Amino acid sequence: MKVLGIETSCDETSAAVVEDGFKILSNVIATQIPFHAPWNGVVPEIASRKHTEWIYTVTKEAIEKANLKIENIDAVAVTSRPGLLGSLLVGLSFAKAFSWARNIPYIAVDHMLAHLYAPMLVQNIDQRPEYPFLGLLVSGGHTIICRADNFDDITILGTTIDDAAGEAFDKVAKYYNFGYPGGLVIDKMARNGDSDAFRFPMPSLHKGDHRYDVSYSGIKNAVINQLETFKKKNNYTNNDIAASFQKTAIEILLRALFNAAEDTGLSTIVAGGGVAANSLLRERLTEQKHLCCFFPPLDLCGDNAAMIAGLGYQYLARGENSPLNVIAQARVSGFKKKYP
Ligand code: KG4
Ligand code: ZN
Repeated sequence: MKVLGIETSCDETSAAVVEDGFKILSNVIATQIPFHAPWNGVVPEIASRKHTEWIYTVTKEAIEKANLKIENIDAVAVTSRPGLLGSLLVGLSFAKAFSWARNIPYIAVDHMLAHLYAPMLVQNIDQRPEYPFLGLLVSGGHTIICRADNFDDITILGTTIDDAAGEAFDKVAKYYNFGYPGGLVIDKMARNGDSDAFRFPMPSLHKGDHRYDVSYSGIKNAVINQLETFKKKNNYTNNDIAASFQKTAIEILLRALFNAAEDTGLSTIVAGGGVAANSLLRERLTEQKHLCCFFPPLDLCGDNAAMIAGLGYQYLARGENSPLNVIAQARVSGFKKKYP
């Protein structure tokens, strides 16, 4: 079954064709980064306008790159939640129209479940993680530690109680004018910086109900408020700030994740989302010899439609599809906790 995937939840307009849930035939990702960079963050109105302008050509290109014709597409999968509402609506409406016009089924899927599915997109079955495993979902809008029993069956163990991991990278980069998107820029700068140059606090969240939760508002404020101290300190560099921030930001994630691994006894970890591209996170997880860690390849860490098509296939293969009255949802309950 050849599934056309459509992803427009944030600032990438993406369309892909995936065969039988695992084989990527094409994966076109049109990034809007240059249009949002002047604002150092995603501007929702610009995002939905660009999706509207690009969705048709990006989809056409995905079908062509897969060496297919429109008649060869068997079903459509699309992100319907969570994300920017206006952006989601563009992809969702397009997918509904496509499926209605072609008289083929469509399935609306969850963007975060799709990030968790991304490492499954490999041909060799031995290279796919087996359920159950611990999921680490780290993106610009979410930070989730969960137990995954199937592609559609996750139990959320921990979330952020304030900012998401990627959001913290983005906000620190924005404050210091490091560039956009912040995660990628800080990751690169950190390679030439001293991660012990500055010490940042770990949140005091590791006890009781919050053993698997994370918080980034403390470190974000510390990094930003210590600017004057940084400036006074001799021979400090921006790379030192980036490296010191990144080190603690990743430690915050790992502490909660290792608590969850210890308590659940799960030793397979699957990471997904834009922050899963972070080189320090990948390095620190790979060195844990008692854990078996799976990461998507770098081009499948960020937003892409291949993961949407792959996940969508799994529902379709079970005989499920979505009615035309499915609505876009900006938020999903449970994906973020309130403190205490
Ligand atoms: O999954 P994603 O592409 O979009 C959302 O669903 O939010 O994640 C985007 C986030 C941004 O916050 C970006 O700064 C972060 O992922 N990111 C990184 C890296 N590459 C992207 N964060 C840390 N290190 C990276 N190498
Ligand atoms: Zn995402």
